Amino acid sequence: MQTSTLAIVSAMHEELRALLPQLQDARRVSRAGREFHSGQMYGHPVVLVLSGVGKVSAATTVALLASEFKPYALLFTGVAGGLGAGVCVGDVVLARELLQHDMDASPLFPRYEVPFTGRSRFPADTALSDTVAAATTQCLDHPPSELSAAHLAEFGITQPRLHEGMVISGDRFIATSDDSAALQYALPDALAVEMEGAAVAQVCADIGLPFALLRVISDRADDSAHIDFPRFMNEVAGAYTHAIVAATLARL
Ligand code: ADE
Repeated sequence: MQTSTLAIVSAMHEELRALLPQLQDARRVSRAGREFHSGQMYGHPVVLVLSGVGKVSAATTVALLASEFKPYALLFTGVAGGLGAGVCVGDVVLARELLQHDMDASPLFPRYEVPFTGRSRFPADTALSDTVAAATTQCLDHPPSELSAAHLAEFGITQPRLHEGMVISGDRFIATSDDSAALQYALPDALAVEMEGAAVAQVCADIGLPFALLRVISDRADDSAHIDFPRFMNEVAGAYTHAIVAATLARL
């Protein structure tokens, strides 16, 4: 039986760390090496968990989460490398569909298609994504107070924007301009690349769980990605995620 609980799955410790202090009546349950934190956040029943890194970890986390906590929907937050032209560090990408860029069972099946599903692109839930889009726009117009304009400017972030479209996932951190260019060439409508989202989308499609996924752009998936990524995680990502989650919950 479904509950009124929203699952919030974070890819990184820094994001979970920013959310946990807001959790009231917190209870912690461990399963399969994962810690699930349930309670109330801004008046909503929620369960928070780290996805783990990569497609298998994320898929296992979502399957466990769904069977143990029966959430009515899932919101995934994290960071990603920007691929699309104009998708800059500090921008937010909201996935409307997701694809595994490293899925290739050709010539048996078309490249990117998940065998026996007939699909390469898995859609996010439209209504929940629309809510997250509105919450994100509000947060980008009024950045969280802990992120001063001067601090954001250090990362070259002046006018962060929301982009909506395809996010691609694979078990590889993209950290060279050549790899990034190859992905852009093969999948020209991909806005951002990360390591979990399309696996989450496939599990959610299998079990009929509505989900939305948002990613703050931490790097451009190029030769400087390994420098930009950790700094952005430590200094910016948590505050952004917290603000967008709070604004989303206020709209549900
Ligand atoms: N997450 C954040 N940046 C990324 C990148 N460059 N490649 C894959 N996942 C990422």
